[in-house]
Amino acid sequence: MSRRGFVLAGGAGTRLYPATLAVSKQLLPVYDKPMVYYPVTTLMQAGVREVLVISTPRDLPAFRELLGTGEAWGMRFEFAVQERPEGIAQAFLIGAGFLADHPAALVLGDNLFHGHGLAGMLRAAHERADEASVFGYQVSDPERYGVVAFDEAGRATSIEEKPAEPRSRYAVTGLYFYPAGVAEEARRLRPSQRGELEITDLNLAYLRQGRLRVELLGQGMAWLDTGTHESYLQASNYVETLEARQGVKIGCPEEVAFRNGWIGAEQLARLADGMRGSGYGRYLLGLVER
Ligand code: G1P
Repeated sequence: MSRRGFVLAGGAGTRLYPATLAVSKQLLPVYDKPMVYYPVTTLMQAGVREVLVISTPRDLPAFRELLGTGEAWGMRFEFAVQERPEGIAQAFLIGAGFLADHPAALVLGDNLFHGHGLAGMLRAAHERADEASVFGYQVSDPERYGVVAFDEAGRATSIEEKPAEPRSRYAVTGLYFYPAGVAEEARRLRPSQRGELEITDLNLAYLRQGRLRVELLGQGMAWLDTGTHESYLQASNYVETLEARQGVKIGCPEEVAFRNGWIGAEQLARLADGMRGSGYGRYLLGLVER
Protein backbone atom coordinates (compact mmCIF):
# COMPACT_ATOMS: atom_id res chain seq x y z
CA MET A 1 0.00 0.00 0.00
CA SER A 2 1.47 3.31 -0.91
CA ARG A 3 0.80 6.07 1.57
CA ARG A 4 1.16 9.65 0.36
CA GLY A 5 3.23 12.01 2.48
CA PHE A 6 2.64 15.69 3.11
CA VAL A 7 5.15 18.17 4.50
CA LEU A 8 3.60 21.45 5.48
CA ALA A 9 6.21 24.20 5.43
CA GLY A 10 4.16 27.36 5.21
CA GLY A 11 3.73 30.17 7.67
CA ALA A 12 5.59 33.44 8.01
CA GLY A 13 7.77 32.34 10.94
CA THR A 14 7.12 35.63 12.70
CA ARG A 15 8.28 34.27 16.06
CA LEU A 16 11.79 33.91 14.62
CA TYR A 17 12.01 37.39 13.05
CA PRO A 18 14.39 38.74 11.79
CA ALA A 19 15.96 35.32 11.07
CA THR A 20 13.00 34.43 8.84
CA LEU A 21 12.36 37.79 7.17
CA ALA A 22 13.79 36.62 3.85
CA VAL A 23 14.05 32.83 4.31
CA SER A 24 11.50 30.18 5.16
CA LYS A 25 11.89 28.94 8.73
CA GLN A 26 11.89 25.32 7.55
CA LEU A 27 14.96 26.02 5.38
CA LEU A 28 17.05 27.34 8.25
CA PRO A 29 19.64 24.84 9.46
CA VAL A 30 19.15 22.79 12.58
CA TYR A 31 22.85 22.30 13.31
CA ASP A 32 24.17 20.74 10.08
CA LYS A 33 21.23 20.38 7.72
CA PRO A 34 18.08 22.21 6.64
CA MET A 35 15.23 21.91 9.14
CA VAL A 36 12.94 20.26 6.57
CA TYR A 37 15.32 17.29 6.29
CA TYR A 38 14.17 16.10 9.70
CA PRO A 39 10.43 15.74 8.98
CA VAL A 40 11.18 14.36 5.51
CA THR A 41 13.40 11.73 7.13
CA THR A 42 10.60 10.92 9.59
CA LEU A 43 8.24 10.16 6.69
CA MET A 44 10.95 8.07 5.02
CA GLN A 45 11.46 6.05 8.21
CA ALA A 46 7.74 5.30 8.18
CA GLY A 47 8.15 3.98 4.64
CA VAL A 48 6.62 6.88 2.70
CA ARG A 49 8.25 7.53 -0.69
CA GLU A 50 5.93 10.02 -2.37
CA VAL A 51 5.71 13.39 -0.72
CA LEU A 52 3.94 16.66 -1.47
CA VAL A 53 5.78 19.67 -0.08
CA ILE A 54 3.49 22.61 0.59
CA SER A 55 4.78 26.11 1.20
CA THR A 56 4.14 29.77 0.54
CA PRO A 57 4.27 31.30 -2.96
CA ARG A 58 7.51 33.06 -1.94
CA ASP A 59 9.30 30.03 -0.48
CA LEU A 60 8.20 27.11 -2.65
CA PRO A 61 10.91 27.67 -5.33
CA ALA A 62 13.63 27.29 -2.67
CA PHE A 63 12.14 23.97 -1.47
CA ARG A 64 12.02 22.80 -5.06
CA GLU A 65 15.67 23.73 -5.50
CA LEU A 66 16.69 21.97 -2.29
CA LEU A 67 14.71 18.75 -2.71
CA GLY A 68 14.35 18.38 -6.49
CA THR A 69 12.32 15.53 -7.93
CA GLY A 70 13.31 13.17 -5.13
CA GLU A 71 14.88 10.73 -7.57
CA ALA A 72 18.31 11.16 -5.94
CA TRP A 73 16.84 9.63 -2.75
CA GLY A 74 14.69 7.05 -4.52
CA MET A 75 11.63 9.16 -3.81
CA ARG A 76 9.16 11.40 -5.58
CA PHE A 77 8.57 14.97 -4.48
CA GLU A 78 5.80 17.19 -5.70
CA PHE A 79 5.25 20.79 -4.71
CA ALA A 80 2.18 22.90 -4.08
CA VAL A 81 1.45 26.40 -2.85
CA GLN A 82 -0.64 27.33 0.17
CA GLU A 83 -1.66 30.89 -0.68
CA ARG A 84 -2.52 31.89 2.87
CA PRO A 85 -1.96 30.23 6.26
CA GLU A 86 -5.48 28.81 6.49
CA GLY A 87 -4.72 25.76 8.58
CA ILE A 88 -2.88 22.47 8.61
CA ALA A 89 -5.90 20.43 7.49
CA GLN A 90 -6.05 22.52 4.30
CA ALA A 91 -3.09 20.46 3.09
CA PHE A 92 -5.52 17.69 2.13
CA LEU A 93 -7.66 20.05 0.05
CA ILE A 94 -4.59 21.52 -1.68
CA GLY A 95 -3.21 18.03 -2.25
CA ALA A 96 -6.45 16.16 -3.01
CA GLY A 97 -5.28 15.33 -6.53
CA PHE A 98 -1.90 14.09 -5.34
CA LEU A 99 -3.54 12.05 -2.58
CA ALA A 100 -6.22 10.42 -4.77
CA ASP A 101 -7.58 7.46 -2.78
CA HIS A 102 -4.40 6.69 -0.85
CA PRO A 103 -3.91 6.90 2.90
CA ALA A 104 -1.87 9.89 4.06
CA ALA A 105 0.88 10.88 6.47
CA LEU A 106 1.30 14.57 7.27
CA VAL A 107 4.22 16.10 9.11
CA LEU A 108 4.85 19.72 10.00
CA GLY A 109 8.03 21.07 8.42
CA ASP A 110 9.44 22.30 11.73
CA ASN A 111 8.83 19.18 13.84
CA LEU A 112 11.85 17.13 14.83
CA PHE A 113 11.39 13.58 16.14
CA HIS A 114 14.13 11.33 17.44
CA GLY A 115 14.54 8.36 19.71
CA HIS A 116 15.04 4.68 20.20
CA GLY A 117 12.09 2.68 18.87
CA LEU A 118 10.65 5.57 16.89
CA ALA A 119 11.14 3.95 13.48
CA GLY A 120 9.18 0.89 14.63
CA MET A 121 6.28 3.05 15.84
CA LEU A 122 6.25 4.92 12.55
CA ARG A 123 6.22 1.70 10.55
CA ALA A 124 3.37 0.35 12.66
CA ALA A 125 1.30 3.50 12.15
CA HIS A 126 2.00 3.30 8.43
CA GLU A 127 0.76 -0.27 8.33
CA ARG A 128 -2.54 0.50 10.09
CA ALA A 129 -4.39 1.42 6.91
CA ASP A 130 -7.91 1.78 8.38
CA GLU A 131 -7.17 3.93 11.41
CA ALA A 132 -5.81 7.41 12.00
CA SER A 133 -2.76 7.64 14.28
CA VAL A 134 -1.46 10.64 16.20
CA PHE A 135 1.26 10.87 18.83
CA GLY A 136 1.04 12.30 22.32
CA TYR A 137 4.08 13.74 24.09
CA GLN A 138 4.32 15.06 27.62
CA VAL A 139 5.33 18.71 27.74
CA SER A 140 5.65 21.40 30.37
CA ASP A 141 3.54 23.90 28.38
CA PRO A 142 0.58 21.98 26.90
CA GLU A 143 -1.47 25.17 26.40
CA ARG A 144 0.70 25.92 23.34
CA TYR A 145 -0.50 22.81 21.51
CA GLY A 146 -3.36 20.49 20.69
CA VAL A 147 -3.95 18.65 23.97
CA VAL A 148 -5.26 15.10 24.28
CA ALA A 149 -6.85 13.81 27.50
CA PHE A 150 -7.47 10.18 28.48
CA ASP A 151 -9.89 8.21 30.66
CA GLU A 152 -8.76 5.74 33.32
CA ALA A 153 -8.44 2.97 30.78
CA GLY A 154 -6.04 5.13 28.78
CA ARG A 155 -8.52 5.80 25.97
CA ALA A 156 -8.43 9.28 24.41
CA THR A 157 -11.51 11.23 25.45
CA SER A 158 -10.91 14.74 24.13
CA ILE A 159 -8.58 16.82 22.01
CA GLU A 160 -8.55 20.59 22.37
CA GLU A 161 -6.57 23.16 20.43
CA LYS A 162 -4.49 25.44 22.65
CA PRO A 163 -6.81 25.20 25.67
CA ALA A 164 -6.41 27.85 28.38
CA GLU A 165 -6.86 25.08 30.94
CA PRO A 166 -5.33 21.90 29.55
CA ARG A 167 -6.91 18.63 30.75
CA SER A 168 -3.60 16.81 30.50
CA ARG A 169 0.06 17.47 29.85
CA TYR A 170 0.01 15.52 26.57
CA ALA A 171 0.52 17.59 23.45
CA VAL A 172 -0.46 16.16 20.08
CA THR A 173 2.67 16.30 17.95
CA GLY A 174 2.81 17.51 14.37
CA LEU A 175 2.80 14.05 12.77
CA TYR A 176 -0.47 12.51 11.62
CA PHE A 177 -1.44 9.32 9.79
CA TYR A 178 -4.88 9.08 8.14
CA PRO A 179 -6.72 6.36 6.25
CA ALA A 180 -7.91 6.80 2.66
CA GLY A 181 -10.74 9.32 2.43
CA VAL A 182 -9.09 12.01 4.55
CA ALA A 183 -9.63 14.69 1.86
CA GLU A 184 -13.40 14.08 2.11
CA GLU A 185 -13.18 14.39 5.91
CA ALA A 186 -11.19 17.62 5.56
CA ARG A 187 -13.81 19.01 3.20
CA ARG A 188 -16.40 18.76 5.97
CA LEU A 189 -14.38 21.03 8.30
CA ARG A 190 -15.28 24.67 8.88
CA PRO A 191 -12.71 27.39 9.75
CA SER A 192 -12.11 27.95 13.46
CA GLN A 193 -12.25 31.31 15.23
CA ARG A 194 -8.69 32.00 14.11
CA GLY A 195 -9.80 31.34 10.53
CA GLU A 196 -8.01 28.02 10.06
CA LEU A 197 -9.01 24.50 9.10
CA GLU A 198 -7.77 22.94 12.32
CA ILE A 199 -5.97 19.62 12.34
CA THR A 200 -7.41 19.18 15.82
CA ASP A 201 -10.95 19.26 14.36
CA LEU A 202 -9.95 16.62 11.82
CA ASN A 203 -8.53 14.44 14.60
CA LEU A 204 -11.73 14.94 16.60
CA ALA A 205 -13.76 13.67 13.65
CA TYR A 206 -11.74 10.43 13.69
CA LEU A 207 -11.96 10.24 17.47
CA ARG A 208 -15.77 10.47 17.32
CA GLN A 209 -15.85 7.73 14.69
CA GLY A 210 -13.74 5.51 16.94
CA ARG A 211 -11.01 5.50 14.32
CA LEU A 212 -8.28 7.48 16.09
CA ARG A 213 -5.36 5.84 17.77
CA VAL A 214 -3.24 7.98 20.10
CA GLU A 215 0.23 6.57 20.63
CA LEU A 216 2.34 7.99 23.41
CA LEU A 217 5.95 8.85 22.75
CA GLY A 218 7.83 7.97 25.93
CA GLN A 219 10.27 10.08 27.86
CA GLY A 220 13.19 8.51 26.02
CA MET A 221 12.02 10.16 22.82
CA ALA A 222 12.65 13.67 21.69
CA TRP A 223 10.01 15.83 20.07
CA LEU A 224 11.67 19.16 19.58
CA ASP A 225 10.18 22.45 18.78
CA THR A 226 11.77 25.28 16.84
CA GLY A 227 9.13 27.87 17.62
CA THR A 228 11.30 30.39 19.45
CA HIS A 229 14.94 31.47 19.24
CA GLU A 230 15.67 29.52 22.44
CA SER A 231 13.98 26.27 21.42
CA TYR A 232 15.52 26.54 17.94
CA LEU A 233 19.01 26.78 19.43
CA GLN A 234 18.20 23.92 21.83
CA ALA A 235 17.22 21.74 18.89
CA SER A 236 20.54 22.50 17.17
CA ASN A 237 22.45 21.76 20.36
CA TYR A 238 20.58 18.48 20.83
CA VAL A 239 21.48 17.31 17.33
CA GLU A 240 25.10 18.41 17.67
CA THR A 241 25.51 16.73 21.04
CA LEU A 242 24.13 13.35 19.94
CA GLU A 243 25.83 13.36 16.56
CA ALA A 244 29.22 14.19 18.08
CA ARG A 245 28.87 11.64 20.86
CA GLN A 246 27.56 8.72 18.81
CA GLY A 247 29.01 9.41 15.39
CA VAL A 248 25.62 8.93 13.75
CA LYS A 249 23.45 11.51 12.06
CA ILE A 250 19.90 12.48 12.95
CA GLY A 251 17.59 13.45 10.10
CA CYS A 252 19.80 12.21 7.29
CA PRO A 253 17.55 11.35 4.32
CA GLU A 254 20.37 9.91 2.19
CA GLU A 255 21.15 7.39 4.92
CA VAL A 256 17.54 6.32 5.35
CA ALA A 257 17.12 6.00 1.56
CA PHE A 258 20.18 3.74 1.52
CA ARG A 259 19.07 1.62 4.49
CA ASN A 260 15.54 1.32 3.06
CA GLY A 261 17.09 -0.02 -0.14
CA TRP A 262 15.65 2.88 -2.16
CA ILE A 263 19.12 3.82 -3.43
CA GLY A 264 22.26 1.71 -3.81
CA ALA A 265 25.84 2.27 -2.70
CA GLU A 266 26.80 3.82 -6.03
CA GLN A 267 24.15 6.48 -5.76
CA LEU A 268 25.04 7.16 -2.13
CA ALA A 269 28.67 7.59 -3.18
CA ARG A 270 27.60 10.06 -5.86
CA LEU A 271 25.64 12.10 -3.32
CA ALA A 272 28.55 12.01 -0.90
CA ASP A 273 30.99 13.08 -3.59
CA GLY A 274 29.04 16.27 -4.24
CA MET A 275 29.45 17.24 -0.58
CA ARG A 276 32.90 15.93 0.27
CA GLY A 277 33.94 19.33 1.56
CA SER A 278 31.58 19.05 4.54
CA GLY A 279 31.41 16.73 7.52
CA TYR A 280 27.99 15.69 6.25
CA GLY A 281 29.42 14.54 2.92
CA ARG A 282 32.24 12.67 4.65
CA TYR A 283 29.66 10.95 6.86
CA LEU A 284 27.79 9.72 3.77
CA LEU A 285 31.07 8.50 2.29
CA GLY A 286 31.71 6.61 5.52
CA LEU A 287 28.37 4.80 5.11
CA VAL A 288 29.40 3.59 1.67
CA GLU A 289 32.77 2.36 2.87
CA ARG A 290 31.49 0.64 6.00
C1 G1P B 1 -0.11 22.99 15.45
C2 G1P B 1 -1.40 22.26 15.79
C3 G1P B 1 -1.34 21.72 17.21
C4 G1P B 1 -0.12 20.85 17.38
C5 G1P B 1 1.15 21.61 16.96
C6 G1P B 1 2.36 20.70 16.95
O1 G1P B 1 -0.01 24.15 16.22
O2 G1P B 1 -2.49 23.17 15.60
O3 G1P B 1 -2.51 20.96 17.47
O4 G1P B 1 -0.01 20.42 18.73
O5 G1P B 1 1.00 22.15 15.64
O6 G1P B 1 3.53 21.39 16.59
P1 G1P B 1 0.51 25.55 15.58
O7 G1P B 1 1.77 25.23 14.85
O8 G1P B 1 -0.58 26.00 14.68
O9 G1P B 1 0.73 26.45 16.74
